[in-house]
Amino acid sequence: MVKSMTLKMNDGREIPVIGLGTYTSQGKTDECRLSVETAISCGYRHIDAAAIYKNEDEVGQGINNMIKKGVVTRGEIFLATKLWNDQHEEQKVVPALKASLKRLGLSYVDLYLVHFPLAINADGSHSDVDYLETWRGMEKCKELGLAKSIGVSNFNPQQLERLLNNCKVIPAVNQVEAHPNLTQKKIIEYCKSKNIVLTAWSPFGAMPEIRDRTRAPPAPKIDDPILTVMAKKYNKTTTQIVLRYLIDCGMAPLPKSITPTRIAQNIDVFDFALTPEEVKKIDEFNTGFRVHKEHEELWKDHKHYPF
Ligand SMILES: NC(=O)c1ccc[n+]([C@@H]2O[C@H](COP(=O)([O-])OP(=O)(O)OC[C@H]3O[C@@H](n4cnc5c(N)ncnc54)[C@H](OP(=O)(O)O)[C@@H]3O)[C@@H](O)[C@H]2O)c1
Repeated sequence: MVKSMTLKMNDGREIPVIGLGTYTSQGKTDECRLSVETAISCGYRHIDAAAIYKNEDEVGQGINNMIKKGVVTRGEIFLATKLWNDQHEEQKVVPALKASLKRLGLSYVDLYLVHFPLAINADGSHSDVDYLETWRGMEKCKELGLAKSIGVSNFNPQQLERLLNNCKVIPAVNQVEAHPNLTQKKIIEYCKSKNIVLTAWSPFGAMPEIRDRTRAPPAPKIDDPILTVMAKKYNKTTTQIVLRYLIDCGMAPLPKSITPTRIAQNIDVFDFALTPEEVKKIDEFNTGFRVHKEHEELWKDHKHYPF
């Protein structure tokens, strides 16, 4: 069993550096619950969920099963979930978290995140609700002990700066897309200066060949020669090199997998580190490529669109 490194958040609590992603693990075959149970057996203590993934029930079952089996205690697990964009009115935030907790079968989350800075209405149309209003609801969640830490996701530095100038509780985390094609240097620099932890979603970017490569940049693929040389040197896979790259850039990656061998592999990244030269070589893959085209299609005209 591998023990993950942790990062200290600005509220004094620790966040395990590798978290299990659960987006698209859902539905018919219990795959999400099984991936959570496998991950916990392998040493994962950080699980990343969201109301919009529609699988908080399975995430909660996985965690609660492992607690019942005596593998972990609730206190050892770091569970994050997220507020969806249609619940941004201040008075909706606490009830939205309570609904998540009910689905999860838990009494608190370790981290509650505003999923996006932009609000939408129930029918998907754009809403003007300001994320400063939403944040007041998030602060209430922390005050009530329903969330031990609170943070944001997909906020750009300008949005964070505005939030920091208008809040009581500084966000502990910003969760953003980050991988070799989207190295996020500006956000890394900004969050470091404000002591905000960055967690990295879609850490493999377009790399696993399951992605739609028709619109993906040509490199790096899973057999990329530059990554393969590093993988051979450290006796790791190219995907482990990418996870280590993100860690060496100061982030906490959230790899999703439902495949037991990959789940085990993705946390086995704490017995080596890349050299600064190797980090620089991987930086050169940066093209600004974003995995989810639909975010732009849906929201590019929204006044709080972050990208
Ligand atoms: N805040 C946000 O807006 C946001 C947005 C997107 C995602 N997220 C979070 O970030 C997590 C990760 O992002 P993601 O799910 O988009 O993408 P990802 O973790 O970069 O990639 C997942 C894909 O890679 C495959 N994979 C995993 N480990 C592998 C390995 N060792 N070798 C080869 N292939 C491997 C998985 O396949 P198998 O599962 O078949 O093994 C899956 O198809 C999400 O699950 C979610 O928790 C957050």
